[in-house]
Amino acid sequence: GNKNINAKLVLLGDVGAGKSSLVLRFVKGQFVEFQESTIGAAFFSQTLAVNDATVKFEIWDTAGQERYHSLAPMYYRGAAAAIIVYDITNQASFERAKKWVQELQAQGNPGMVMALAGNKVDLLDARKVAAEEAQTYAQENGLFFKETSAKTASNVNEIFYEIAKRLPRV
Ligand code: GTP
Ligand code: MG
Repeated sequence: GNKNINAKLVLLGDVGAGKSSLVLRFVKGQFVEFQESTIGAAFFSQTLAVNDATVKFEIWDTAGQERYHSLAPMYYRGAAAAIIVYDITNQASFERAKKWVQELQAQGNPGMVMALAGNKVDLLDARKVAAEEAQTYAQENGLFFKETSAKTASNVNEIFYEIAKRLPRV
């Protein structure tokens, strides 16, 4: 039969990686070139139908600026899923993503579904992080990996859909 699932989802990642842009694309189908840096966190919700279930995502889009780091546990605590975002044109953002994965592995909810998003894949000419490197890292750490573009919408719905499929059916 049909199941309704509520799932808290958190986005984490470096400043400017594209967390808000991915959410805006997923929730409103929009993209803006001059997205403002998030202050604290922002909340959104969006419902997705997958196979036998309707998943209502309760999405916390966190701020990447370091001064907000101490707030993050409020948003990932109790979360069923996390998307850790980096920018494929920025090696430092990939290193920051790995730190978030470590923090979630140490302090997050043990059954959390984790996705690694290599965002801005539309900027291929400026690539600094190889897809193979990220894929290997993701596999070794129990995440699934997709390269995304909030600008072109590439793999944006897919990453949320894939999370929805992996959520435990209570
Ligand atoms: P904080 O809120 O500061 O942590 O940043 P954020 O991770 O939410 O990044 P945000 O979505 O604000 O995006 C930062 C900048 O990157 C904005 O100017 C976006 O327009 C741009 N951007 C985001 N996603 C993409 C993308 O897929 N492709 C391109 N070309 N630009 C993107
Ligand atoms: Mg933001």
